[in-house]
Amino acid sequence: MRVLNNVLVTGGSGFIGTNFIRFLFNREQGVSGDGFQDKAPEAEFSGRVINLDSLSYAGNPANLSDIEAEYGGKRYFFIKGGIGDSGLLDSLFGDYGVDTVVHFAAESHVDRSILGPRVFIETNVLGTFNLLEAARKHWKDRSETRFHQISTDEVYGSLEESGAFTEDTAYAPRSPYSASKAAGDHLVYSYFHTYGLPVTLSNCSNNYGPFQFPEKFIPLMIQNILEGKALPVYGDGKNIRDWVHVYDHNRAVYLVLTCGKTGEKYNIGGENEWENRTLLDAIIKTVSQKAGREEASVRAAITYVKDRPGHDRRYAINCGKIKRELGWKRIMNFEAGLEQTVDWYLANQNWVKTIQSGEYLRWIENNYGSR
Ligand code: NAD
Ligand code: TYD
Repeated sequence: MRVLNNVLVTGGSGFIGTNFIRFLFNREQGVSGDGFQDKAPEAEFSGRVINLDSLSYAGNPANLSDIEAEYGGKRYFFIKGGIGDSGLLDSLFGDYGVDTVVHFAAESHVDRSILGPRVFIETNVLGTFNLLEAARKHWKDRSETRFHQISTDEVYGSLEESGAFTEDTAYAPRSPYSASKAAGDHLVYSYFHTYGLPVTLSNCSNNYGPFQFPEKFIPLMIQNILEGKALPVYGDGKNIRDWVHVYDHNRAVYLVLTCGKTGEKYNIGGENEWENRTLLDAIIKTVSQKAGREEASVRAAITYVKDRPGHDRRYAINCGKIKRELGWKRIMNFEAGLEQTVDWYLANQNWVKTIQSGEYLRWIENNYGSR
């Protein structure tokens, strides 16, 4: 089992990265049901985290203020900067003796990639390339290093009613977002084959949980219900996604980092497929109950809108390999996970208001400089 020492987490102030760092420092939110019962990772992780995040609209360093207060300058280091900055990467690898990279930083929203694809290429392709170059330069004479690429099931394309993506499914991305992630993945692989860089990759299905920017389906719907807004469903609402709790994703990433084989990729999924319209029903039920809203009037806000261009019909993940080879299994049941997520958004309306407001951008500028 590999020991993690100096871990460079890119995009650690975004949704999954925040949860990953909180997971390493054992700061998960408790939940009822069968979740969060496995062994705490804290005892196993005694290294340092260097969180490099450019603080795009989706990044919020306050997500980790408790970690900063306890470990800041000792085991936790926040650096505001981008993976486009090769000089900065160079100095971080040198100064902190980085031996592990967990590469979350990305532009992550399909709709935004349709409206403006350029930044997706800059961050997800060129940024990944810069990071690989820094690792190649600094890890020449070092063993026990690892570059882990966080990827998505969307690189595999779209499925019809049956079947599921395996690690052998050929990449067939269909949105600028998934194409940029696929390009990043290919570069990562190429550095393994060409330069012997010790890489691993994971391709995960749709995540949900605390700290997700309310532009993605689940938090957007929760938030719109709370604000009495319309609930926009794209197309016929029959597109299918496989939902996995961010905690289960991060447990899998930790396993791959510590026990995975270099040059290998691992699929991660919830084995939990939902049509969007049925999922929305479940969200409406849970939020209405918890927030004291009348279900029928919330339901009346469902609005079928024009479909997303090139909208992938169905994603489904076969995660047999990581279960078989690394002993991973999903421990969050979806009902408990959705309840925990709704509870979190209800309890953190200030977080939502702040991340969506100009006040938040001013706060970032005052604390971290302009972007
Ligand atoms: P997110 O948009 O919430 O967070 C991305 C983070 O990256 C933000 O903190 C942002 O400030 C930072 N960032 C953006 N550009 C940067 C740059 N140039 N340099 C440094 N930091 C930069 O995204 P997320 O949902 O947390 O996704 C994280 C990773 O997981 C992405 O690589 C994404 O492709 C992948 N992924 C996401 C999902 C999902 O359902 N959200 C599923 C599978 C894989
Ligand atoms: P999203 O959360 O954007 O994730 P992805 O597109 O990466 O899977 O969307 C999940 C599904 O929900 C997808 O089929 C598109 C659909 N969707 C809506 O119907 N309405 C919305 O407002 C959004 C954001 C998504």
